[in-house]
Amino acid sequence: MATDFTEETAADAVTGSFAPSTDPRLRDILTSLVRHLHAFAREVELTIPEWNTAIDFLTRVGQKCDADRQEFILLSDVLGLSMLTETINNRKFGVATESTVLGPFHVVESPPLELGANIDHVGTGMPCVVTGRVVSTDGTPLPGASIDVWQANDQGFYDVQQPGVQPRGNGRGLFTADAEGRFWFRTIVPSYYPIPTDGPVGELLIATGRHAFRPAHIHFIVSAPGHRELTTHIFVAGSEYIESDTVFAVKKSLVADFDLVEDPERARRWDVPVPFRHADFEVIMQPAAS
Ligand code: BEZ
Ligand code: FE
Repeated sequence: MATDFTEETAADAVTGSFAPSTDPRLRDILTSLVRHLHAFAREVELTIPEWNTAIDFLTRVGQKCDADRQEFILLSDVLGLSMLTETINNRKFGVATESTVLGPFHVVESPPLELGANIDHVGTGMPCVVTGRVVSTDGTPLPGASIDVWQANDQGFYDVQQPGVQPRGNGRGLFTADAEGRFWFRTIVPSYYPIPTDGPVGELLIATGRHAFRPAHIHFIVSAPGHRELTTHIFVAGSEYIESDTVFAVKKSLVADFDLVEDPERARRWDVPVPFRHADFEVIMQPAAS
């Protein structure tokens, strides 16, 4: 006779249905997922209307996705799952620069540019010079490292969010570090901005009384031969929302001073007007083998 499906036996019934041939890692993940999911439903005494609401919500999350919009990643972001996964996967890397979320706006290949180029093609906002050096964990410089950067403008929008307003490629650049691992480029100080709220994730934020903002930041993907690729940001120290990023992506080590510079000599050297801001970012890359 078949065993009754009860609250107590439900999880065992499902996990026991996995064939012996199931990939061991998949089995571990699904077993844990089913156990936690069932424990959650029992803990909150999930009602049928609530189950229906959840199914409808997840359906609409999927329907909101297209080539330029990934609402499931946004959901993962606002639930802290993206950052938790990043953090778990980078905990063993001692002195290396910390990683943080990729975000949904790296949708355009960054234009390859010479060191020192200006990635701002609009001309509004506070001019800014970003300098840095890419080194390995033992301090060895990494010449030829590639530094892919992208950022919002001074109004808090990425180029892809404002077609016809910002030229495609505004706020983006792909740089190659010099013989000493150094890089530098000109830009404007980005603004804080809201994540997209015109989908179900926006409804979730409203329903839970949360704001949608991220503090001002510049995205980086840094790669160098023999090293783990690094996806990270530098955050503008003192930016609004630095203590309450809606996707929980701020790490203290990634907050950089964007110093105010009024010295005309330094402005001439960088070919920027005064005043401008200067941020310096040392990128420490983890060797791939460790
Ligand atoms: C971003 O920084 O581009 C971003 C990250 C997560 C969610 C939305 C935007
Ligand atoms: Fe961003």
